[in-house]
Amino acid sequence: MLTIAMPKGRIFEEALELLRKAGYALPPEFAESRKLMIDIPEEDMRFILAKPMDVVTYVEHGVADLGIAGKDVLLEEERDVYELLDLHISQCRLAVAGLPNSRLNDIAPRVATKYPNIASSYFREQGEQVEIIPLNGSIELAPLIGLADRIVDIVSTGRTLKENGLVEFETIANVTSRLIVNPVSYRMKDEKIDELVERLTAVIAS
Ligand code: PRP
Repeated sequence: MLTIAMPKGRIFEEALELLRKAGYALPPEFAESRKLMIDIPEEDMRFILAKPMDVVTYVEHGVADLGIAGKDVLLEEERDVYELLDLHISQCRLAVAGLPNSRLNDIAPRVATKYPNIASSYFREQGEQVEIIPLNGSIELAPLIGLADRIVDIVSTGRTLKENGLVEFETIANVTSRLIVNPVSYRMKDEKIDELVERLTAVIAS
């Protein structure tokens, strides 16, 4: 059986559609269910539903053979998983944003983010010494209430920035979802995994 860790939230719907187009018969109630582990015996598959950042952990520990994870998550933490395929879904970007016409505070510039590693290496490369303020969500609040001069966050439609009066200054990286695999699973279940990759590749190409 193949166990696949899927991210709950916005990637989920697009990933589901991709798997269905690849010919996997996933039941219609799949998306609405609150179950966190769903077996599809007809396909010899098990899905586990996890927070995007945790998908990689399940795959790294081998309790899931495969996972779907955003490139943002893969860039943030170096993990012992292989990236097999760019699924070209959930396209967005990692960007630096802040209040319009605002400058980086010269003395102690602060950057709020869910991506402390990406943010610190980005600003280090720019020659800026900044203090990173890690947050778990609603990052756009930070400049509005004076917690940070800049944020590093995901921009998808740009609506959250706009509605909060923020502007994007620089793009750090373009982001799409990737299929990742546990290295041991890939050795043990290579035939099944290669078949999944082939079927997904055909859908992506079309
Ligand atoms: C993400 C991201 C931005 C928003 C961008 O947040 O962190 O806040 O989506 O999307 P947009 O450009 O289409 O507006 P998410 O909804 O995942 O929640 P979070 O604030 O808890 O991170």
